[in-house]
Amino acid sequence: MDNIQKQFLDDIAAAVTSDQIEQVRVKYLGRKGIITLFAKNADFSKMTVDEKKEFGVKLNELKNLATQKLQDSQQMSNVSETVGKSAELDLTLPGNARSLGALHPITMVQMELETVFEGMGFRVLYGHECETEFYNFEALNIPADHPARDMQDTFWLTNGRILRTHTSASQVRSLHRFGAPIRAIFPGRCFRYEAIDPSHENTFYQCEGLVVDKDISVANLIAVMKTILSEVFKRNVAVRLRPGFFPFVEPGFELDLQCLFCGGKGCPTCGDGWIELIPCGLIHPKVLEAGNINPGEYSGFAFGVGLTRLAMMKFGIRDIRHFNSGDIRFNEQFGVIL
Ligand code: DAH
Repeated sequence: MDNIQKQFLDDIAAAVTSDQIEQVRVKYLGRKGIITLFAKNADFSKMTVDEKKEFGVKLNELKNLATQKLQDSQQMSNVSETVGKSAELDLTLPGNARSLGALHPITMVQMELETVFEGMGFRVLYGHECETEFYNFEALNIPADHPARDMQDTFWLTNGRILRTHTSASQVRSLHRFGAPIRAIFPGRCFRYEAIDPSHENTFYQCEGLVVDKDISVANLIAVMKTILSEVFKRNVAVRLRPGFFPFVEPGFELDLQCLFCGGKGCPTCGDGWIELIPCGLIHPKVLEAGNINPGEYSGFAFGVGLTRLAMMKFGIRDIRHFNSGDIRFNEQFGVIL
């Protein structure tokens, strides 16, 4: 038995691969293996009872040892085979970089506007996405039967509130809270019951602005608009006003931006050289009254910048549906990583 053990230990030490180890197992513990046959052929008739006992104990020890060694070797060979395979990895390949994400283009434009307006003494207020009918419509001189309501159909909540259709809803809210004089902007998300297409979304962003003070005129409005647009587009811009109707301003305007692509000559993007950009006007006396401000004492202007629209123009995005697509690759193109 000592000889067999010695021979076995030599063999198992020499076996490296899984196949070689299996061969050793068959050679010793297989049906016709050395240890198996040795046990089978042992001649017990010549042994005393004590010898038989000793023989049995030693044989068991040998079998256990062999079984254990085979198992250990097999395990070792599995490990080294795995390591061997992984050594075939090409370590010069680039790793899997984790994306850090990027600011959404609307966030970028919003932050830029906030900075410019803050520099001009405006406070930034975020208002309520879920609004009362009063602030969204009535306070803005849009009574229940006014046709303007149809243009801004929205989502009604079961508690009677609505998802705001425009950031103008924050105008009277802010007058109630802070009174006059006030300069504020209200950037944020708005909602309309709208069929989605390349230029319409049911969820989009606006930035409302409001100034109420003594002797505020259209000249102030134009000056402020020109300043912020020049900052956003990083150059001097020309603007023009056309009459426009909104129930909460009087007079109301459409402020057009001279086309940045053609310089006002006319091109496929603008048509006649002007791009309709910011509806605005002098705040209607009824709106001031709804905000508990005396229109005899104070006047003001208001404007509504389409933030989504502005981001589309600034970055040349042609389809509004990209904004809410949830596709990180869209954001990453605009580059600013936090
Ligand atoms: N609230 C309007 C809209 O969403 C935009 C607007 C028009 C805002 C005129 C204003 C304004 O402040 O003076 O269509």
